[in-house]
Amino acid sequence: MSMINAALVESFDEPPHYRSVPAPAAAPGQETVDVLAVGVHPATRGIAAGKHYTSPKTLPALAGADAVVRRADGSLGYVMTMGAGSLAERIVIDPAAIIPVPEGTDPALLAATMNPALSSWTALRTRVPFQAGQSVLVHGATGNAGSTAVKVAKHLGAGRVIAAGRNRARLDDLASEGADSVVQLVPDEDVTAAALAEAAAEVDVVLDYVWGPPTELAMRAVLGARTQHTRLLDWVQIGGMGGDAITLSGHALRSSAFRILGSGFGAVDTEVMLREFAELVAAIAAGGMAVRPHPFRLDQVEAAWAHQDAPGERTVILL
Ligand SMILES: NC(=O)c1ccc[n+]([C@@H]2O[C@H](COP(=O)([O-])OP(=O)(O)OC[C@H]3O[C@@H](n4cnc5c(N)ncnc54)[C@H](OP(=O)(O)O)[C@@H]3O)[C@@H](O)[C@H]2O)c1
Repeated sequence: MSMINAALVESFDEPPHYRSVPAPAAAPGQETVDVLAVGVHPATRGIAAGKHYTSPKTLPALAGADAVVRRADGSLGYVMTMGAGSLAERIVIDPAAIIPVPEGTDPALLAATMNPALSSWTALRTRVPFQAGQSVLVHGATGNAGSTAVKVAKHLGAGRVIAAGRNRARLDDLASEGADSVVQLVPDEDVTAAALAEAAAEVDVVLDYVWGPPTELAMRAVLGARTQHTRLLDWVQIGGMGGDAITLSGHALRSSAFRILGSGFGAVDTEVMLREFAELVAAIAAGGMAVRPHPFRLDQVEAAWAHQDAPGERTVILL
């Protein structure tokens, strides 16, 4: 039996382990591809910890949730496997699910950038009626997905982008990279609320990576300061770095034309995602946005899981 190297989740309480496993065999209609680079994103870690809605139901299971791959014809592709795993030298995949990647694209850079960038691309292109010229608040803009969201919103024609986050240095970077205004989220809630109210009262879309109590505060601040109550405000829950739940008053929902919705893999049709992501891959390949890859080899998978990314970087396993 031919064997390949892989990273297996054997327990939700441990990092994946480097193992030798039987090479996968493609069923009719499937394609075997070589895996080049796999990002270790928050969702990748959540899946491997049994905490994601696509986490495997049985173990052992292949770690990894996406991959940059090389196809049999030599071309590059990007795939999102989510709970089915991607961290092996070769995987089998439905060819219709492979997003074409332009030749010459750096696999490590694409593996680092694609997952953070697709969060805002999906939200703005498929979840809300976003139009060029509208204004966007990115709540939690200092992580990779939030920082990329500032650039994606600008790329898609936002008139004004407000970046709100905790890390002052990252906010300053974002101001020089295209954010029209920045709001620092500080421990003093009154100061944060006043700053959000001043900068974002009339915003059209909020891309929210924080949720939890900081979002309760931000919603009160923005809704409380809004002067055009019937102007639509779409608040899109994308990440939960500040908590998984909020308490929301009925008054808040009635007081403005205010809608809350989520954006993630469960919320968008696969065909729509594949179409949208082909354009996003091209934008990343063209240099429009980048997260810095921090590379590890596959046999260093446990060290990769233990590594804490510095602001602006993403752990990537190169095969
Ligand atoms: N739904 C989707 O399609 C989708 C796709 C990709 C990612 N996501 C989600 O988006 C979130 C962020 O992902 P990422 O790739 O950006 O991760 P990341 O690069 O690790 O960034 C996370 C950032 O969150 C910030 N943060 C943590 N707690 C916070 C708080 N209480 N208030 C404000 N900011 C806080 C931290 O920045 P500071 O320390 O600088 O404040 C941290 O850098 C995750 O929940 C991820 O699962 C969703």
